[in-house]
Amino acid sequence: MSMSVFCVYLTLVLFIFSGTDGYFEQRVVECLYSSKDLQGIELIDSYVFNQAEYIRFNSTVGKYVGYTEHGVYNAEAWNSDAGILAQELGELERFCKHNADLHYSAILDKTVAPHVRLSSVAPPTGRHPAMLMCSAYDFYPKPIRVTWLRDGGEVKSDVTSTEELANGDWYYQIHSHLEYTPRSGEKISCMVEHISLTEPMVYDWDPSLPEAERNKIAIGASGLVLGAILALAGLIYYKKKSSGVL
Ligand SMILES: *[C@@H]1O[C@H](CO)[C@@H](O)[C@H](O)[C@H]1NC(C)=O
Repeated sequence: MSMSVFCVYLTLVLFIFSGTDGYFEQRVVECLYSSKDLQGIELIDSYVFNQAEYIRFNSTVGKYVGYTEHGVYNAEAWNSDAGILAQELGELERFCKHNADLHYSAILDKTVAPHVRLSSVAPPTGRHPAMLMCSAYDFYPKPIRVTWLRDGGEVKSDVTSTEELANGDWYYQIHSHLEYTPRSGEKISCMVEHISLTEPMVYDWDPSLPEAERNKIAIGASGLVLGAILALAGLIYYKKKSSGVL
C-alpha cells in the first residue's frame, strides 16, 4: 500500500490593506508524518507574500532556500546564523515530534472499513456485453486496493477505476468497473484490500436477478393470480345466475 503523508499546519496570517489594494503575508509551518517511528518526519516553514512562497526552511535540507530575490537574500542571511537554524530544528523536536503521539492516536491510527456494493451497470458501447461495478464507500484512510477475480484468478484487462474520491467528511469512496463477456458456470468476484481489514474481502457476483427485479416479478405474478380468481368467480356467478340457480 502506498505511503501516506499526514500534514499538520500552523498558519500565521498578516493582512495589510491600503485602500482597495491589499498585501497578504502568510507563514505556514507544517509537520509531515510518514511513519509512526517518526522516520522521515519533516518540518517545513514557508513564508508567502501575495500567494507566492519566497523562502522555505525544510528540516531535511537543514537550511533555508529562497525563491525570489528577496527570498534568496534572506536565506543567505538566516543560513549564516546558527541560532536561527538551531531554532528551526528545535521546532521539529518541540512541535512536530512532541505532538506525534497525539496526531497518531487522534487521527492517523484510526481506520474504518469500507461498505462494498457490487452491481451490474450498462456497459459503454464496446467490446463486451456486460459490465460490473464494485463500489467501496466510507473508508478511511485513503489507500485501498480493489481488484477483480474470475474463478479466483486476477483479471487485469478491461478494468477501469476512479481515484479514491474524498467525500469531504474524512471518508473516501472508489468505484472499479469490469467489462466482460459472461461465460456459464464462472464466478466473478471483487476483492477489496484495506488496512482496516485483517484479510482481503471477496464479494462474489450473483448473476441471478437482483432483489428489486424479483420483487417486481412477484408483485406482477400476484396481480395475475388475483385477476384470474376474480374472473373465475365472476364467470361462475354469471353461469349460475343465467342457469336460474340464484
Ligand atoms: C524537503 O527536502 C527533501 C530533501 O531534498 C525532499 O526530499 C523533500 O521533498 C522536501 N520536502 C518538501 C515538503 O518539499
